[in-house]
Amino acid sequence: MNDTFLRACRGEKVDFTPVWLMRQAGRYLPQYQKVLARSDFLTACRTPEIAAEITIQPVDVLGVDAAIFYSDITTTVVPMGMDLHYEAGKGPSYSNPVRTAADAERLIVPDDPAEGLGFVYEAQRICARELENRVPLIGFAGAPFTVAAYMVEGGGSHSFVNYRRMAFADPATYSTLMDKVSRHTANYLRAQAAAGANALMLFDSHAGLLGPQDYESLNLPYVKRIIADIKDTGVPIIYFGLGAHGSLGAISECGADVIGIDYGLHLGEAVKELGSGVSVQGNVEPHIFFQTRREIERRVVETLAGGKAARGHVFNLGHGVPQHSPVDQVRAMVDIVHETSQARAA
Ligand code: CP3
Repeated sequence: MNDTFLRACRGEKVDFTPVWLMRQAGRYLPQYQKVLARSDFLTACRTPEIAAEITIQPVDVLGVDAAIFYSDITTTVVPMGMDLHYEAGKGPSYSNPVRTAADAERLIVPDDPAEGLGFVYEAQRICARELENRVPLIGFAGAPFTVAAYMVEGGGSHSFVNYRRMAFADPATYSTLMDKVSRHTANYLRAQAAAGANALMLFDSHAGLLGPQDYESLNLPYVKRIIADIKDTGVPIIYFGLGAHGSLGAISECGADVIGIDYGLHLGEAVKELGSGVSVQGNVEPHIFFQTRREIERRVVETLAGGKAARGHVFNLGHGVPQHSPVDQVRAMVDIVHETSQARAA
């Protein structure tokens, strides 16, 4: 197996800088659109053969050094009692949002992580088999703060007002909710490692909803608890908090092996704040694919230089691949990362 990604996660020596892209399995790929033409999003997530096929597509098309499992952060909490719907163009939503103490009380933490989620582990066993001699598989979950944001709001939102109000006005309900989601998430991630995931990532896409003080008291402790809980799986753990760069010092001590950096700051500056105890992942502006090849090259060189002082660097975007990205540009960036970093290592 090409284990360069895992080596960079652990801060071991590598011959080139490994690269994969958040949301690499998705709508910008014609191969994905073809599969979705005969399925719908939730059915694709819940059918192991389809989920495995979509997971592997970007490995074939882009030549990336890791596969991220095709699923979604919103599907995980269905066994807790959340009623999930998906509407193309609108995204995921829940018809029974968690707004009151009674709503939080009725949430279930299943003893068996396979309850209602067996399709995930089945799909990952297929992926692990098919990727065995190729690249590692990254399993993931949403971080509890981000998952709970959807649960309280009932779907995506620009400002998540109900959720932020709960965090400040009703701390007892907020902590019941976060505690239950955290326990379920840890069980879910642990089961993914058992099914064959070679690394585990926590996506905290809404971390930036709170300023640094509140992020550090209301969000980060739950992330730490999950990481401590799953550490004994032995697989590298990646934490990505979008918009949380005001707390990088605190984040460096969350227990993750790798810290994902968003597009909001220079990678070199992030590395300085994080210190030498962790590897970094990131952080090219996601819309770079709409620029010229020359500009992509310039940004890759700049980002590789920024990651040089880190313990290890996994090249990635600062958030997900945008929907209409030209595939040839995405593929070109992956090649440029490999070629440029190889030349530097030599
Ligand atoms: O390639 C990959 O990264 C693997 C698959 C993956 C998806 N969602 C597939 C998906 C991952 C890791 C996610 C995580 C996810 N889902 C996050 C965290 C990362 C991020 O992007 O910030 C969040 C916030 C969600 C919630 C979500 N899922 C939204 C808001 C939407 C609708 C808008 C959008 O971005 O498409 C989704 C749908 C979704 N998840 C799609 C895919 C491929 C699009 C489904 C389709 O219409 O085909």
